[in-house]
Amino acid sequence: MEDVFGEELLGSEYTYFRLTSKTGICKNSTNCICKGFVKVVNFSLNMRWTLSPDQIPQAWFNILPTLPTPLDPPLHPATRQPIGPDDLAPLFPMALIAQEVSTDPWIDIPGEVVDILRLWRPTPLVRAHRLETALDTPARIYFKDESVSPAGSHKPNTAVPQAFYNKTDGIKRLSTETGAGQWGSALAFAACLFDLECMVYMVRASYEQKPYRRILIETWGANVVPSPVNDPTHPGSLGAAISDAVADAAGREDTHYSLGSVLNHVLLHQTVIGLEAKEQLRLAGEERPDMVIGCCGGGSNFGGIALPFVEDPKVRLIAAEPSACPTLTAGKFDYDFGDTAGLTPLLSMYTLGHDFIPPSIHAGGLRYHGDAPIICNLVREKRIEAVAYHQNKVFDAAVAFARTQGTIPAPETAHAIRAVIDEAIAARRDGVEKVILFGYSGHGLLDLTAYDDYLQGRLSDD
Ligand SMILES: Cc1ncc(COP(=O)(O)O)c(C=O)c1O
Repeated sequence: MEDVFGEELLGSEYTYFRLTSKTGICKNSTNCICKGFVKVVNFSLNMRWTLSPDQIPQAWFNILPTLPTPLDPPLHPATRQPIGPDDLAPLFPMALIAQEVSTDPWIDIPGEVVDILRLWRPTPLVRAHRLETALDTPARIYFKDESVSPAGSHKPNTAVPQAFYNKTDGIKRLSTETGAGQWGSALAFAACLFDLECMVYMVRASYEQKPYRRILIETWGANVVPSPVNDPTHPGSLGAAISDAVADAAGREDTHYSLGSVLNHVLLHQTVIGLEAKEQLRLAGEERPDMVIGCCGGGSNFGGIALPFVEDPKVRLIAAEPSACPTLTAGKFDYDFGDTAGLTPLLSMYTLGHDFIPPSIHAGGLRYHGDAPIICNLVREKRIEAVAYHQNKVFDAAVAFARTQGTIPAPETAHAIRAVIDEAIAARRDGVEKVILFGYSGHGLLDLTAYDDYLQGRLSDD
């Protein structure tokens, strides 16, 4: 250090040092444009806020009792009458069914669950300072880094409690669906820790083209097969894979079904993200974010970071989705099935139709025809805004992030980054300081084919 730094001249986010006679030979040349100064980021400028393990939230935040309007009840797929707990009992443990309808504002997180969350939680809050500098924006951009989990995304936050409650209920085996494999790998990891068998139905196109998450699933000891199981020529869809997984669970006493998004209890489990982020923003000296941004597929990642901020009307909440699967921005608000075959209860939500097969964009986790009823309710009430982007604009943003911050975001996460960059540019145009918080829902290290397609100009917009 001594070799480089001399007398401090200015102190803000950057500090300029004059090279002293002791240190002061610029290594470049005697006429170097540095004119005897070097610029370094202030050491006092923190980039990362971590909490200690005992600051993992002890309770999940439940939005249900404070929603502006109550949710419409789920309907039985055959009778179209509101369903009760007994209708769901073949598929879910009672504790999760209770959470689905609970009106308690806080729900305790079991100690066994916290114990496992401690493997990677609390996750860091990071300031994307280099991205800010590259955009020349007065906005301060923070992201909550969920990519540090064992499966590389936010999904284990709910996989662990779901596996726990099923284990406590005496269940031996779980079945689920997965698109590109994020959810399937998260559940395989959680099932493995609770010594449960796990059966994953993976959308066939991903099973064949993207082997790495399939290998993760198998490494954690689960079984994985391509879906739809009864049509080997079909590329598959999330809706069809849900049908396969629900049919599996409904047909076996020892098996329950597990869903990685959409349902109220899944969003509940993900609120640890927003609760930690609130605390970390305070540590960073921010009173509140001006906006919270997240990508939205079934809504659990977005709900996890955004729901703890709903009560503060000064915070804008922005959900980013693909133009190729524009559920919130172009869907119809209606009752619809969660799966293709019509086996699941009907949910009141924005939907593109349960038989909608989205184009095979790389953000596999955002290719779902519906969305969480909680998120849809808040979009309808205009508390949440939604934006949609084409794939190439999304990858422009992903690469800008990678070239400034270093890490490679998941294609899903890149939708949020696109929205963040647009808001940061708007802040520059308007000359206003804004505090932006976004969910870094996963890394893209197993999605490099998508980056290759983008870099080689092979990426279609839909
Ligand atoms: C990295 C990543 N981010 C976001 C999502 C979308 O999550 P959600 O369905 O909770 O909206 C997914 C879904 O698989 C994902 O893998």
